[in-house]
Amino acid sequence: MAIESSCDETSAAVCRDGMILSNITANQAVHEKYGGVVPELASRAHMQNIVPVVDQALRVASHSLQDIDAFAFTQSPGLIGSLLVGSQFAKSLALSRSKPLIAVHHMQAHVLANLIDDPKPTFPFLCLTVSGGHTQIVVSETPTAMRVIGETIDDAAGEAFDKSAKLLGLPYPGGPLVDKYASQGNAGRFHFPEPQIPELNFSFSGLKTSILYFLQNAGKSNVYKEENLASENEQRKFIDENLADLCASIQQRIVSILLSKLKKAALLTGIRNICIAGGVSANSGLRKAFEETGKINHWNTFIPAFEYCTDNAAMIASAAFFNPKVVAPLKLQADPNLSLAY
Ligand code: KG4
Ligand code: ZN
Repeated sequence: MAIESSCDETSAAVCRDGMILSNITANQAVHEKYGGVVPELASRAHMQNIVPVVDQALRVASHSLQDIDAFAFTQSPGLIGSLLVGSQFAKSLALSRSKPLIAVHHMQAHVLANLIDDPKPTFPFLCLTVSGGHTQIVVSETPTAMRVIGETIDDAAGEAFDKSAKLLGLPYPGGPLVDKYASQGNAGRFHFPEPQIPELNFSFSGLKTSILYFLQNAGKSNVYKEENLASENEQRKFIDENLADLCASIQQRIVSILLSKLKKAALLTGIRNICIAGGVSANSGLRKAFEETGKINHWNTFIPAFEYCTDNAAMIASAAFFNPKVVAPLKLQADPNLSLAY
């Protein structure tokens, strides 16, 4: 059994020999009105959700606690209060059932979500992991030997989606809403600049600023000029009349930033097995453009099933399945910031 509670999803999964028997996730609507995750509220919601979520994961898998051979949990990275709920729960189960405890790194688990279903990538493979807190290009030599060769120097790709959505007046998390409106819009309508960042690293904070300026002057330019400032009503009207095109143009730029670095990574490493993972890999624009880029460049492309993209315990189970010997002592602490280095 695996438990995931690093941010604002409480999830439990049951896995047998690498096969997922159940994957139950409770989302937390409590953050919507705050425009982002409120850590204290997230911890409390995890405490409310964890028993019913674990219970349902066992029921769907048609198993009882007595059948479980090991308990896995997300150790890091994440919000410490959220991580503590899942880790203490998993430790309690392991202690009470006298079974091994397996600690999992959340970012490694996102990558290994690609090994849940067939077809699976063979090693070595590259993975672009794009989530609300991270944006990384990872070389995976084995399920446990992973090296980060590029990452964001400021915001994560998911944050770029969520913060852009917030500027457009959309509720949190805005990524899926941008995706939805973008499907009805013209991506070529508005032009947002591509940052020039060295090597395989990413930056999204400049994009956010240029969107902010563009909206502040109701579409006149990406550059801030006091004399161009539009009134609040004009700004709102501009957004309402152009929402789909704005979403499509913003999404296209985020996707092009991600894929241009992924292409560079593939060229530099010579690796042709290429995956995406993390919450943003649920984005339909990224999924489509990734497949097209893969075809043009003769890559073997892999995308996890939709339910294994955003935070879920099935990926934690998958990572635990590949790390069965890493038995954690009960005193092992949750950690908000462990890096993905082996
Ligand atoms: O991996 P994840 O569930 O949690 C973290 O580990 O951070 O990723 C959450 C992020 C959020 O920023 C959310 O807006 C984004 O993934 N996301 C999407 C979509 N679905 C989730 N972004 C764009 N399009 C989507 N369809
Ligand atoms: Zn995640």
